Amino acid sequence: MADISNGDNHINDKAAGHILVTGAAGYIGSTLVPMLLERGYEVTCFDRFLWGMGPLLPVAEHPCLHVINGDICDKEALGRAMKGKLAVVHLAAIVGYPACDKDPYMAETVNVGGTRNLVEQKAPDQAVIYASTGSCYGAVEGLCTEETSISPLSLYGRSKAGGEKLVLEAGGTALRLATVFGISPRMRLDLLVNDLTYKALTIKEFDLYEGHFRRTFLHVRDAARAFLFAIENQKSMRGQAFNVGDERMNLTKNQVAQIIQSKIPSCKIVLSTTGEDKDKRDYEVSYEKIRRLGFRSTITVEQGVTDLLKVLPNMLPDEVTRSKNV
Ligand SMILES: NC(=O)c1ccc[n+]([C@@H]2O[C@H](COP(=O)([O-])OP(=O)(O)OC[C@H]3O[C@@H](n4cnc5c(N)ncnc54)[C@H](O)[C@@H]3O)[C@@H](O)[C@H]2O)c1
Repeated sequence: MADISNGDNHINDKAAGHILVTGAAGYIGSTLVPMLLERGYEVTCFDRFLWGMGPLLPVAEHPCLHVINGDICDKEALGRAMKGKLAVVHLAAIVGYPACDKDPYMAETVNVGGTRNLVEQKAPDQAVIYASTGSCYGAVEGLCTEETSISPLSLYGRSKAGGEKLVLEAGGTALRLATVFGISPRMRLDLLVNDLTYKALTIKEFDLYEGHFRRTFLHVRDAARAFLFAIENQKSMRGQAFNVGDERMNLTKNQVAQIIQSKIPSCKIVLSTTGEDKDKRDYEVSYEKIRRLGFRSTITVEQGVTDLLKVLPNMLPDEVTRSKNV
């Protein structure tokens, strides 16, 4: 079995069971599903396949993989899919503030309504692990911990916070992920590190606004490992929210830009006074709570950018369009 911990972290022994993953064909899901299969779980993917089935093709022939083309807004279909599952990893959402602002009704219906459908049909002993986000916090003074109050500023943040509240009230676990980066079978180029690296490669320069803003980052494989970790450490994580990331990757946007420029010296950083992050994310985040349970992330921004340089120059225009997430 693959070791999802690092160093001397302890992972509980478990018998493999059946996991339902909503949004399984997305950026995080298509990295997580192969990990679950490798670890001996049976996996049912429940997805509308907004970005296609391609990301799951590498595991499509696995005998323990099942696929349902379904919408989390279809309560009955979701309920049928949830029946008998050990845990539900809930990733399906309208993701990012541009996509939510484009269709606010859909954002609310999917991110809050779909999550309500899920928690209302959760069996008492069934684990629900929800992909929450640092965007829930809004503007933060001082060190951001799980005790920091939630005051999201964008529709994306508000709808994700609404979903998180429902999950926590139902005894589920919320993982408040840092901004994810890196390569996945389904690429996303709307995420800060991926976006700036792509611009640095293709147009040889990028505008940097709010460069002094402190952000916090998490490699997509580490994000996926966190869901595995939550499945296998339910006893200590049930009913709680956890920040997921690593203090070593609390970086300003300027620092990220410099890492990218060190790998692509020909690229020019253009400092800009226009542009803003609607979620006002400018904070230092503590990851002590999940670290105390034994989880640490392992892959740095430097490594992620090195890997992105192998992939991004070879993407076709339609792949690039799809990976913008709007
Ligand atoms: N990537 C990040 O930086 C990040 C950070 C924090 C939290 N998150 C959260 O993680 C989750 C996954 O994000 P991602 O980056 O993989 O996004 P993604 O857009 O790549 O994947 C979302 C998946 O959900 C599916 N989906 C959308 N609406 C659906 C519906 N109504 N029914 C069924 N499936 C539906 C899509 O087809 C897609 O496969 C989201 O909940 C997101 O809010 C992501």
